[in-house]
Amino acid sequence: MKILITGCHGLLGQRLVKFAPAGCTVVATDIHEDHQFTPADIYRSCDLTQRDAVKNLIDRVEPDHIINAAAFTNVDAAEDQRDLCWLVNVIAMENLVQAARRVHAGIYHLSTDYIFDGQNGPYRENDTPNPVGFYGQSKLAAEQVLKGSPLNFTIARTMVLYGYSANQRPDFVNWLIGKLRNGDPVHIVTDQIGNTTFSDDLARALWHLVRTSYHGVVHLAGREIISRFDFAGKVAKIFNLDSSLIKPISTACFRQRAARPLNSGLVVDKAVYTLGLELSDAEGGLRKYKALLESETP
Ligand SMILES: NC(=O)c1ccc[n+]([C@@H]2O[C@H](COP(=O)([O-])OP(=O)(O)OC[C@H]3O[C@@H](n4cnc5c(N)ncnc54)[C@H](OP(=O)(O)O)[C@@H]3O)[C@@H](O)[C@H]2O)c1
Repeated sequence: MKILITGCHGLLGQRLVKFAPAGCTVVATDIHEDHQFTPADIYRSCDLTQRDAVKNLIDRVEPDHIINAAAFTNVDAAEDQRDLCWLVNVIAMENLVQAARRVHAGIYHLSTDYIFDGQNGPYRENDTPNPVGFYGQSKLAAEQVLKGSPLNFTIARTMVLYGYSANQRPDFVNWLIGKLRNGDPVHIVTDQIGNTTFSDDLARALWHLVRTSYHGVVHLAGREIISRFDFAGKVAKIFNLDSSLIKPISTACFRQRAARPLNSGLVVDKAVYTLGLELSDAEGGLRKYKALLESETP
């Protein structure tokens, strides 16, 4: 089986490359010229917003499946850089769909709880989307492009990813550990609620879906629904840091650029009970991450 992984320099993409199963031929792509930490022989640079470049790449690679982990992921910047966000999240998806049709490839695509409004989470796969910010609108539009295509597709929605990356991509857990190690007080919102997801759990779950040719919409996220403030307390506990530095704040006082779905979260029953996937609870994911950081080859 030949798999094309997009966004291979990203938080998730790096782990997808790492956990590629034996017997799978992987080609990995990202926008950057340099292959960075991806083995040079499997790396192809490609700007997914460029239709001809995507067509040429996919014609040459002829993948059986594409795992699309590339995205414009900065939720606040998306409000001010709408054109770029749309290009990367929606037009790139159109380009991938068109090119995939030529070689009959299926697409496994990553989406987000931000397609929901956070009025009455946690959400099941068939609940009605209603994004409150531009990032969520673009991710929902990408889902619709894929659903409207004749391809075999999977949409895997996730939220609050954290984990190891060679280029130290910023995520909530790594940011918080850095702050607490410095002795800096931090304000963490008490009213943003949802799952938190260890990137290795997600990467392994995605490979399981690919290996078993699962198609459809599925929520893949840590199995516990928790407030961001309580999760921060668990980070302090697991990493032996000073939890008294963590101060509660409400989203209304915190003034983030983009609106967030507050009472959010993804019900992962289908992933856990029907598909048998291993998705950690909050402490379990953090413990695995800590063990990974202490290992010699993360
Ligand atoms: N991180 C989360 O908490 C979270 C939560 C829910 C859903 N998701 C979804 O999960 C997926 C993976 O997220 P992630 O956190 O791993 O993302 P990420 O770390 O931001 O990685 C995305 C990668 O895509 C690249 N990229 C951007 N524009 C591109 C273009 N035009 N052509 C080709 N590549 C391009 C990025 O390069 P640059 O960095 O140079 O832009 C980056 O290397 C995304 O679909 C995201 O929406 C993430």
